[in-house]
Formats: sequence, C-alpha cells, structure tokens
Amino acid sequence: MPQADVQLRPLFSPERIQQRVAELAAEVADCYGGEPIVLLPILSGSLIFVADLVRKLPMDMVIEVCGLSSYRDGTSPGHLDWTLAPPKDLAGRHVLIVDDILDSGATVSRVRAAVGQQSPASLRSCVLLVREPVNEAPDFGGFHIGPGFVVGYGLDFRGRYRNLPGISLLVEE
Ligand code: IMP
Ligand code: MG
Repeated sequence: MPQADVQLRPLFSPERIQQRVAELAAEVADCYGGEPIVLLPILSGSLIFVADLVRKLPMDMVIEVCGLSSYRDGTSPGHLDWTLAPPKDLAGRHVLIVDDILDSGATVSRVRAAVGQQSPASLRSCVLLVREPVNEAPDFGGFHIGPGFVVGYGLDFRGRYRNLPGISLLVEE
C-alpha cells in the first residue's frame, strides 16, 4: 500500500520488464562472446534487476557486490557514500557494473573510477533505467525515462517499494 500522501502510477509492467531484461541479456552475451565476466551490482537498488539478468546470461561468471548510496532521504540526491567498497582483485578481468537507474550518472562514474584504477581487462555498465537527458550513456541501457521519481523492481523511496514487481512513477500529493 502506498503512503497516504503519495500515489503510484504504473510505468512498466512486470512482463515488459522481463522482456527488456531478456533483450539486454542477449546484448550482453553477444558483446562478451564466451569470455567469463565479473558482475558488479551496486547495492541495493540493482538487487532485483541483477537477479533476473544473471539467470538469462549463459557465460561463466562471478557475482561480486559493492554499495554506494546517494538517496538517503526522499527523492533528492545527496552525498555519495560507499556502504561497501568494490573488491580489490579485478585486474585483468572483464567487469560489468550493474545498476537500477542512471540519473546524474555520478554513482556509476564513481564505481567506474574505483574499478578502473585496478586495470580490468574491460569495464562496462548495464543499467535498467536511463534518465533523459543523458550525460554519459551506459554500455547497455534498458528503458529511457523522463523526469519523475520511480519505484519498484528494486527502486525505493525512503527504503520502501523495492518489492513491487513493476515500476511506477511516484507522485507526491
Ligand atoms: P545518479 O548517481 O544520480 O546517477 O543516481 C543513481 C542512483 O540514485 C541510483 O543507484 C538509485 O539508487 C538512485 N535513484 C536515482 N533516481 C531514482 C529514482 O527515480 N528512484 C529511485 N532511486 C533513484
Ligand atoms: Mg542505487
């Protein structure tokens, strides 16, 4: 149930999300051929997306995690803080950063910079939602969206709504 002062307007249904995730997985699989990769999801927003994505990827892989938090309270971006630093053994490996949404791009850029210092064999990013206008396009992007805060399928508002199977626009009254 949404809070009394917010409304949820459906944007992407669970079926549409599954279809797009399957298309993204096919693009990722094509790109790497048979090479093993390291998936690096950024907690916590990418949890649901990465769980679906990995089960559609055929190649050998390791799943690592890192945590970078910016939306601490409500919908305004705040200071970026590591809640879990990326692993330190990424040299020479093909690393794919995974996140729920690319908004300003600061979160993915920060992870890219930290991983890039380790000289991985390759470094790419895969995000489900890309907010227009785009500063720096991800290597793999799911849906392009406009303004408006979104929740569901891993995305939260003050820690809530991550469990919703579809993605909705959050409208504050
Ligand atoms: P960026 O650093 O500005 O690209 O913001 C990306 C991070 O902010 C994502 O990892 C999300 O956790 C969070 N975020 C940005 N926009 C939204 C939104 O509309 N709903 C929920 N979380 C969001
Ligand atoms: Mg996040």
